[in-house]
Amino acid sequence: MSQQTISQTIQNLEAAFAGESMANRKYLYFARRCRELGAVEVAGVFERTAEQETAHAFGHLDLLYPQNTLTVEKMLEMAIEGETHEYTEMYPAFRHTALEEQNHAAVQEIDEQIEESKEHAENFATTLEMAAKRFAALAKVEERHANHYRDALNKISD
Ligand SMILES: [Fe+2]
Ligand SMILES: [Fe+2]
Repeated sequence: MSQQTISQTIQNLEAAFAGESMANRKYLYFARRCRELGAVEVAGVFERTAEQETAHAFGHLDLLYPQNTLTVEKMLEMAIEGETHEYTEMYPAFRHTALEEQNHAAVQEIDEQIEESKEHAENFATTLEMAAKRFAALAKVEERHANHYRDALNKISD
């Protein structure tokens, strides 16, 4: 398999993941509206299908992010990166365009999303810091245990 093939497949998986994820949220949104319109059974069809779309999206994620490559730190770092991209690059650019097009509703909505993405990034960063501290503390305990064990072994062999 050439590098080209792998990279095109990864791109396709990313696109498929995006599509399945969108289908999931869109069907849940449609289900909510169906309920408001009194179409309870149709809402149910949307909700059950949405659940399957989540399974489809997770299937793609299994290939994009193999579980043995994901550590807690790595996942938090990726989340921080994504949220930071949203509030520092993506939304500011979208806001600029919305302003130019005088779409004031979109500008307001984007402003709210910028705030939320920033909050999410900060929250993840705090969580990562706490996880790192816990990890360091655990490593220290492990080191102490290892030292005790080595001392005990040394005594026996003395
Ligand atoms: Fe699907
Ligand atoms: Fe977010």
